[in-house]
Order: sequence, then C-alpha cells, then structure tokens
Amino acid sequence: MSLRTVLVTGGAGFIGSALVRMLIAESSWCIVNIDKLTYAGNLESLSQVMNNPRQVFSRTDICDRDALDRLFAEHRPSGVIHLAAESHVDRSIHGPADFIGSNIVGTYTLLEATRAYWMSLATGDKSAFRFHHVSTDEVYGSLGAEGLFTEATAYSPNSPYSASKASSDHLARAWQQTYGLPVLVTNCSNNYGPYQFPEKLIPLMILNALREKPLPIYGQGDNVRDWLYVDDHVRALWRVFEKGLPGETYNIGGHNEKTNLEVVDTLCALLDELRPRGDGRRYQELKTFVADRPGHDRRYAIDASKIEHELGWVPSESFQSGLRKTVAWYLANPDWIEHVVSGEYRSWVKQNYSDRNAA
Ligand code: NAD
Ligand code: DAU
Repeated sequence: MSLRTVLVTGGAGFIGSALVRMLIAESSWCIVNIDKLTYAGNLESLSQVMNNPRQVFSRTDICDRDALDRLFAEHRPSGVIHLAAESHVDRSIHGPADFIGSNIVGTYTLLEATRAYWMSLATGDKSAFRFHHVSTDEVYGSLGAEGLFTEATAYSPNSPYSASKASSDHLARAWQQTYGLPVLVTNCSNNYGPYQFPEKLIPLMILNALREKPLPIYGQGDNVRDWLYVDDHVRALWRVFEKGLPGETYNIGGHNEKTNLEVVDTLCALLDELRPRGDGRRYQELKTFVADRPGHDRRYAIDASKIEHELGWVPSESFQSGLRKTVAWYLANPDWIEHVVSGEYRSWVKQNYSDRNAA
C-alpha cells in the first residue's frame, strides 16, 4: 500500500511542530510541511524530523496561490491540516494587519487552492479527502463565572486575533456548505508545553524567572484560561482528521481552568523545587502586576464532551503533570531558549532566503 500524505500548514510553529513530530513517531503518513517562517516559525523545533524522508519542508506563504498549486500538484495529499496563523493576541492589538493577511486572506487562498486540487480527484479520493481547519476557543468571546463553551455557542470574538480566526472559521464552513469540500473545524483552549515561543504566558514566565526578571501579570491576575498540554491537542487533531465527520466542529479542552495567578504561582513553586534561586529567595517575589490587556477576555472554559463521546478522545496529562514536564523541558533545553532569545534561530532563514518572504 502506498503511503498517504498530509499537507500541514504552520508546521514550524509551536503546535504544528508537535503535530509533525507526533506523526513521524506514531504514524506511517508522509508530511508536506509548509510554513512562511515568520518570527514564530522555528526550524530548530523540527530538528528531530528534518532529515526524515517522510517529512518534506517548504518555506511557503499560504497567501501564495501559485506556490500552493505547485505543492498540491507535486505531492498529491489526501488531506490538509491547517494551523498556519498569526497567533498572539497582544501582537494583534498592536498590529492587526498580519492577522488579516495570514489568518483571513491566507485561509481563503488555501481553501481555494485546496478546492481546485480536490475537484481534480477521482470520486473515491474526493470523498476521502479532508480539510481540517485548526482554530481557537477565543472565537466564542468571554464567559462569566459560570458556563462552558460548546460547539453551539454563538461566535463573539473580542480581539483582532480572535476576529480573524472567527472569520477563517466561517470561510472554512462556507467552503463545505457551498462547494462540498469535506471540512472539519476544531476549536481548542490554551495550549502549553515544549517549544512554545516565549511571548505566551507560560514560557514567558519560565524564561523571565530564570533570568531573574519581573513576571508581568495583567490586571489582577484573575482572568481564567483552560489549559491543555500540546501533545494532547495534537492527538485530538489527528483523531478528528482520521475519524471526524465532515461539516462538524469539535471543541478540544482539558478541563483545567486556572486563574493566571494560579498558573504563575504553580510555575514559581515548580521552579523553586527544580531550579532553586540559590539565595533562599522564592520566584514568587518576581511577580509584578502590570496594566491590563485591552479587551481582555475574562474567562474561557471548554465543554469537550462531543469529542470525548463521539471520537473517544480524552487528554492524558493533568495540569500538574503537564506543567512539570514543560518546566523540565525548558530547563533541559537551554540551547533552544538561547537561540530564540538571541535571534540565532533565524540564522537558517537569513542564510537560505535572504529577505524573500521576510517576516
Ligand atoms: P505559532 O505562532 O507558534 O505558529 C504559527 C506558525 O504559522 C508559525 O510557524 C508561522 O511561521 C506560521 N505562519 C504564520 N503565517 C503564515 C503564513 N502566511 N503562511 C505560512 N505559515 C505561516 O502558533 P501556534 O500556537 O502553534 O498555533 C497554531 C494554530 O493553532 C493557530 O491557527 C492558532 O490559532 C491555533 N490555536 C492555538 C492555540 C494556542 O494556545 N497556542 C490554541 C488553540 C488554537
Ligand atoms: O484560548 C486559545 C488561545 O490561547 C489561542 O488561540 C492563542 O493563539 C494563544 O495565544 C492563547 O491566547 P491567550 O491570550 O489566552 O494566551 P497568552 O499566553 O497571551 O495569555 C494567557 C493569559 O495570561 C491571558 O489572560 C493574558 C495573561 N498574560 C499574558 C502574558 C503574555 C499575562 O498576565 N501576562 C503576560 O505577560
């Protein structure tokens, strides 16, 4: 039997690289990994798989229709898992343009390239094909003290990031309804784990603590996020890709609601245990309350019962076990951190691409 190929977008990012590493380790699929390598794309996160013949990397912008057409024609994938996006809420507040470009126009361009290729397939391959759009719980807006996001919750995005993701979700849904493209959509809560870019809460706090820098907590630190270990997310994505029903949406979450203050306190306690400061002081002392994020969503919490009941997915990690693994990974991988902090992780891009497609 010939090996099947999946085209993964955003595979040099945090979640995409975890998906690619998992597929190489645990499946027989070939992966065409396309990524623009913005500041968030890091080929050092793919070092375990870069030389594996089942993974082909292409530096490609999902807004580049000609390049996408060439990749579809050359590799003839059986499906797409689309993760490429601008992903950081704070950046979207300071500069929304890239979010409109990559998340909305990029998703549109990818959907159109996929549709043209899909239309050319024989009937059996056409019905087996899947376009899996990876999205976020932030499209649902903000919860009060009670309740959970379900797949039926109305969209109410509050940041430029979440509005751009909501937009792309609607495009993906419309391509299913209008053209019959077999689309799957997943909406996941906050991920954490190894290889996450240190602009996001958990890696930022770990890196700052290790450098004895303040730990900036927005507002009162009482906003709530629902945390999921990244490897649990990528296994859920693969379960949906293989078993999900086209036209359906699946929420993904780990039942781990925590205030930001709880997250930072837990991280500080883990660091006190695993890398004590040496002078008897506690990492807690580095906590600093700073101005709140504009439009800061109060609380996210996911009802993941649909994917649990219909597809049999449940997370493996508790918040405690996942966070311990995460802190241990950052302590054991100073080179990855150092290259991100110094900018050295961009040197491969600079050497190989000069300024073409520059982030
Ligand atoms: P990330 O920022 O770490 O990675 C995004 C990747 O996409 C980067 O490698 C970047 O180079 C690439 N990219 C950006 N624009 C591109 C373009 N125009 N063409 C090709 N590649 C491009 O993000 P992440 O945290 O890994 O998130 C991946 C996906 O999962 C995103 O769609 C995000 O919205 C979604 N998501 C993230 C979380 C989370 O907590 N991180 C939770 C739910 C959903
Ligand atoms: O819910 C899923 C979303 O989770 C994903 O779609 C996004 O791509 C991902 O970035 C994440 O968004 P958040 O805005 O929730 O993540 P972030 O790590 O930026 O912030 C988490 C919480 O911590 C949030 O309430 C803001 C707060 N925070 C964040 C930073 C960076 C701080 O208090 N201080 C900080 O320095």
